[in-house]
Amino acid sequence: MELKKSALVGALGALVALFAFQGAAEAQVAFSSDVADDLTYTRDVAPIIQQNCQVCHRPGGIGPMDLVTYDDARRYARRIREQVANRLMPPYYYDHDIGIQDLQEDWRLDDEQIATIVAWVDQGAAQGDPADMPTADLVDVEGWSLAPTLGEPDLVVPSSPIDVPASGNDMWHRPIVPVGMPQDRCIKALQVKPRGDAKAVVHHANSTFQRETDDGAFESTGDRATEYAMGKLGELIPDGVCRVLPADTYVAWDIHLYPGGLGAAAPNAVLEDNVVELGIWLHPEGYEYEYKQDLALYGIRQGELIMEPNGTAMTQGFHTFDHPVRIDSFQPHGHLRMRSASLEIMDPSNGRSEIISMISNWSATWHQSHIYAEDAAPLVPAGHVLILKQWYDNTGSNPNVVDPDMWVDGGSRTADEMSHAWIAVTHLDEEGYEELLAEREANEERRITDD
Ligand code: HEC
Repeated sequence: MELKKSALVGALGALVALFAFQGAAEAQVAFSSDVADDLTYTRDVAPIIQQNCQVCHRPGGIGPMDLVTYDDARRYARRIREQVANRLMPPYYYDHDIGIQDLQEDWRLDDEQIATIVAWVDQGAAQGDPADMPTADLVDVEGWSLAPTLGEPDLVVPSSPIDVPASGNDMWHRPIVPVGMPQDRCIKALQVKPRGDAKAVVHHANSTFQRETDDGAFESTGDRATEYAMGKLGELIPDGVCRVLPADTYVAWDIHLYPGGLGAAAPNAVLEDNVVELGIWLHPEGYEYEYKQDLALYGIRQGELIMEPNGTAMTQGFHTFDHPVRIDSFQPHGHLRMRSASLEIMDPSNGRSEIISMISNWSATWHQSHIYAEDAAPLVPAGHVLILKQWYDNTGSNPNVVDPDMWVDGGSRTADEMSHAWIAVTHLDEEGYEELLAEREANEERRITDD
């Protein structure tokens, strides 16, 4: 497919202008002004910081500084204001004004919380009455983030350990490790977690299920376990469907490591014995389900993923299913040059398309799986087209580009680019599709009469 260059440049120009706004340190953000004029830390701000920031900004967390006490917050008040007002922190990038907004495990602050923090700083960052201060409930940074809701995982499959040097080129580690489950089971949730200091050197870790063949080789069962990239917390599979954990399988790890480390937790030293763990929560034996769900990589293959010095690029990909599906989650993937990504669904009978999700301020540091709330997950009729688009920027205005005078090509090193998305799909049939649709309509009606 041939794309008109002028159209591309126009679209990209608009996006770049948007980023310039978002990246500006003193961006003027117009949030609702009906917040009180006597805001205090202990009463108004601490609850927001405790619930949304301390998981990382605490001793042993991955944030560069602690935000535990009033003094911490006061010291960083201006930077907190800037990060929060520009929606850079908490690090969950997903446009708030387009597409499906009802997401699970969504870290974004709402407008009122943002307005409260901004106004508190502007009013002088008062402490308030220490008696109002809520008790901090610091979670275990080494723990599974899904444990508070789901308990400890039923299975933990660690990779074999590997040392990562202080400097050098990207590394890949591909051990194959037995899962230790003798029968087929259905997975409820998954989380991949680098153990301890490994957090600083693991760029991403894919895992697929494999079986040992008679001659001792390994072959894929066709079932992918999950995918991890920096910052991601976990994956939840909706109730009533099955993501299969096949019997007697192995996890084949594909771990991309980064010597010298990434992010603030990297001590820039040799890190020994790095291990990545896969935690698996299972449904009970005999769990009943009608449809299977899987997570797969969808290539975005149209358009050249090659950028000349100071150049830009755009890619797109089209995917259809010959049966109805429900889209359960969406996670675009690219590297340092990727600026934005979107998912649209097109109805081929009339050519109309709708944006489902848009991330116009994408960051390679934070790969989130955007999990749609169950009654918001798109139901897609057979034959409708998923349109995936990604935009790339190799110019000096992209803060992640170290040297805009370099050519950039597709490839799996951090310095190369990639173009695909991970999408979790429940494979329905016509009957299941109609049932889910009717269920939603009934819920919607109930909501309207309740109001
Ligand atoms: C998932 C982990 C995580 C969460 C949650 C999080 N942060 Fe951060 N924060 C980081 C990391 C890592 C960095 C440094 C790297 C970066 O900027 O991406 C950072 C950087 C910052 C900075 C910039 C520090 C500097 O050098 O100027 C500020 C300010 C900040 N965070 C405030 C917050 C606030 C306020 C919240 C909650 C509303 C929050 N963060 C939530 C991980 C997190």
